[in-house]
Amino acid sequence: MKVLVIGCGGREHMLVKKLNHSVRVTDIFVAPGNAGMEKEATCVEIAVDAIDQLLDFAKKEQIDWTIVGPELPLSKGIVDHFRAEGLKIFGPTQAAALIESSKDFSKSLMAQYQIPTAKFQTFTDSAKAKAYIKEQGAPIVVKADGLAEGKGVVVAMTEQEAYQAVDQMLEGHCFGEAGTQIVIEEFLSGKEFSLFAFVEGEAVYPMIPARDHKRAFDGDKGPNTGGMGAYAPLPDVTPEDIQYTIDFVLKPVARAMVKEGRPYTGVLYAGLIQTDSGIKVIEFNARFGDPETQVILPLLENDLLDVIEAVSSGVDPKLTWRDGYAVGTVVASAGYPTVSNKGMKVPELPEILDGYLIHAGTTFDHNHHIVSNGGRVLLVGSVQETLAKANKEVYHYLKNFDQTDDFFYRTDIGLIE
Ligand code: AMP
Ligand code: GLY
Repeated sequence: MKVLVIGCGGREHMLVKKLNHSVRVTDIFVAPGNAGMEKEATCVEIAVDAIDQLLDFAKKEQIDWTIVGPELPLSKGIVDHFRAEGLKIFGPTQAAALIESSKDFSKSLMAQYQIPTAKFQTFTDSAKAKAYIKEQGAPIVVKADGLAEGKGVVVAMTEQEAYQAVDQMLEGHCFGEAGTQIVIEEFLSGKEFSLFAFVEGEAVYPMIPARDHKRAFDGDKGPNTGGMGAYAPLPDVTPEDIQYTIDFVLKPVARAMVKEGRPYTGVLYAGLIQTDSGIKVIEFNARFGDPETQVILPLLENDLLDVIEAVSSGVDPKLTWRDGYAVGTVVASAGYPTVSNKGMKVPELPEILDGYLIHAGTTFDHNHHIVSNGGRVLLVGSVQETLAKANKEVYHYLKNFDQTDDFFYRTDIGLIE
């Protein structure tokens, strides 16, 4: 079978690695891919949201399955376009991907179907938004309605910060179209975790829980990033917590989407928080998470293509998981997320013996050296029988980066506080 993966990050590199273990997969193409995938797939120079070009390519190459990594093409309806031409593609339709691409849609859905989440209201008028903030008080959370590359959330500790966020989004148009409508919601506190599931209509097949570290620096300090590392599974998330999430979040939301005439297909990502009053949803995403995928898929024992085919044809994929823990630490460009220095030479790296090396923002320079091409550059991961061992293995390998000022990484990924 010929498979096309869409995307260029660490998540897609892990999808490529996993698909290389699928017995029926003969050819893997990735659009556009990155420097690390060269030996594992054929990289094709097509942008993730160039839907017509991707469609032409898939038809010309007679691709059997297309797997979509990022949210952008999903929000633009890539799944609808491929299906309309009779091509198999794994991901939600545009109508179902709205669960990620509009926070107002996903919050209203949760409210309507009593799925536990923070109290909220939606605004397009800044005076009304500010009046609501004054009434509710701080801390409070201001979110752009649309897709904002993970930057659209402001957790405001003071009313002033919240007013400023409202001004930037509604008056300053800092997120363009994505911020013409905003959601203001109650601040929740607690430990966060993610639970992804393969979904086909009302059928939900959960994966193992994972946690990513969004803040740039050790101890969850510093600015929000796209994720500085992740680990899975989570010793502090009990089987009861998972069952609760399945029964009160994942299954109800899948049923709700069917009822709303937007049946969900693909991977559904639930971002959750354990508050004093129970588990609540922070957000839904319409895809695999990054970097969580880089610690979840190494633990999945099943053949990924078999899983996708089973789920898509309404059959239980009978997921099984390795008995162990995965830790993955991101190596980022110095200055990330404020600036991401591109073109910095990635050191020549030795083979990783007891782990895996994932590329994210990497490309080749004119001398065919691997250089950085984005904020998150690499991820070093390892699977071991304990989190502590996986953490140790990862950090042993990361000593290769200690001599360079061009990159940095957190030193505490996978260490449970
Ligand atoms: P998101 O982009 O929706 O994943 O939000 C980014 C981060 O903002 C989340 O991982 C949380 O840490 C934080 N956040 C979002 N919503 C809330 C909330 N209602 N209360 C507290 N923190 C939140
Ligand atoms: N890890 C966060 C995300 O994929 O959105």
